[in-house]
Amino acid sequence: MNTPRRVEHQQTDRGTIPVYATGVVEQPWDDYTSVDHHVWGELFARQREVLAGRACQEFLDSQNVLQMTADAIPKFSELNPILREATGWELVGVEGLLPEYTFFEHLANRRFPVTWWIRKPEQIDYISEPDLFHDLFGHVPLLMNPIFADYMEAYGRGALKAHGISEEALLNLTRLYWYTVEFGLIRTAAGLRIYGAGIVSSKGESIYCLESDAPNRIGFDLERIMRAQYRIDTYQQTYFVIDSFEQLFEATLPDFTPIYARLANQPSIRARDVLDSDDVIHRGTREGFATDEDA
Ligand code: PHE
Ligand code: FE
Repeated sequence: MNTPRRVEHQQTDRGTIPVYATGVVEQPWDDYTSVDHHVWGELFARQREVLAGRACQEFLDSQNVLQMTADAIPKFSELNPILREATGWELVGVEGLLPEYTFFEHLANRRFPVTWWIRKPEQIDYISEPDLFHDLFGHVPLLMNPIFADYMEAYGRGALKAHGISEEALLNLTRLYWYTVEFGLIRTAAGLRIYGAGIVSSKGESIYCLESDAPNRIGFDLERIMRAQYRIDTYQQTYFVIDSFEQLFEATLPDFTPIYARLANQPSIRARDVLDSDDVIHRGTREGFATDEDA
């Protein structure tokens, strides 16, 4: 990004580092250990194998174009020219989760914040916060797709607007992000495929979301999704299926202000529930579902 404003220094394991007003830090590529590169390589190879025939083709192809490989952790500075050229997006390094508003500002300006550090070997199967593998392997490939790229920018702008409307409006949008960007499925001629970053970065959920009978699979419905609670501690109980990225982009194009007003008077829907009005692709058996309330 263009000469970011340096506001403060922060003490980290790596010593004192500059942190910009936007939360942006330089990717300390030289500091990665051989263990870090090895964790990347193992996760990369494993997920590529699991995702063949499960992830959508746009995702798999874009990873190739970005020249991501199992050999080493990619350098943001080498991915950025490819990404900029394709869709005008760029990656910026961050220490971890940003304040909501700052995150949305990045998206609205076609900057995707990527956590620079990678999980430890003992966290290969599960980690509770986003790391480099989730952010880079999971989110970045679809930013190469022109329509999805536009959707992400529009989302950022929409979230900044929702922020100024109400907390409920922002919650509605958070659910939309969750059930599309993080846990979305897409219908293709070859069958259902994964595009959500939260799924593609998890081996277990990549298989579960498509092959288990337990969760519901329901056709995309904007207002329905914006009312749906979700789980952050288990695999999803419901997945929403889009027909195309165009559908997603076009459905979210209208001004949401009247939608937020309408939703304010409607109850939310439990993550596991199926409504009569749902376009049910698969009605889940709910086998193995947690019995407690949604998170
Ligand atoms: N169209 C939405 C609005 O006016 C913004 C938005 C776009 C939200 C894409 C989510 C995804 O608020
Ligand atoms: Fe994510």
